[in-house]
Amino acid sequence: MTETLLGPALDADDYKRALAVHAAGVVVITARSGGVPVGLTATSFSSVSLDPPLVSFYVDQASTTWPSLREADHFAVNVLASDQADLAARFARKGIDRFAEPTRWREGPLGAPLLDDVSAHLICLPYERVGVGDHVLVVGLVTRAEVRAPGRPLLYHQGRFGRFIAHP
Ligand SMILES: Cc1cc2nc3c(=O)[nH]c(=O)nc-3n(C[C@H](O)[C@H](O)[C@H](O)COP(=O)(O)O)c2cc1C
Repeated sequence: MTETLLGPALDADDYKRALAVHAAGVVVITARSGGVPVGLTATSFSSVSLDPPLVSFYVDQASTTWPSLREADHFAVNVLASDQADLAARFARKGIDRFAEPTRWREGPLGAPLLDDVSAHLICLPYERVGVGDHVLVVGLVTRAEVRAPGRPLLYHQGRFGRFIAHP
């Protein structure tokens, strides 16, 4: 292990294990690019600002979906419900048509695909993009928000999908 001014260098496995205990909600970012639906699963989604209404996610610079997503004039954030773990896995898988059966979706008001039976949809215009390390921070201006099933979020924790249980 190499030394730095702050002490021993960060162990990469320790770093990953620490991040993995941070439970996160799961979204699928979708867009239409050159007429083709594109999308990917993300846990890096976050609210950023209330006024203006801004949200963000980070996408891997190496993502093969990002070049198409970057070209789209808007994108949708599909907040997944607790019974949509298979859908989340599908939108993280390479080499398949993520929008083919059994995925159920419809065209949204501006054209971006909206996944069926999700907890909420947010439709966003690109607001800011910043390269940060090996990811790109994407900030979106929310133009439309629709809540469908708020009580059943899908969570991701230590490499597994799960459900939220509220304290009594
Ligand atoms: C639970 C989960 C969360 C993920 N979160 C992100 C994320 O926040 N940003 C990202 O770029 N990729 C994330 N990924 C990986 C992408 O969904 C996808 O696997 C990756 O983009 C590879 O596909 P692509 O090359 O077609 O983009 C996540 C995957 C899973 C299973």
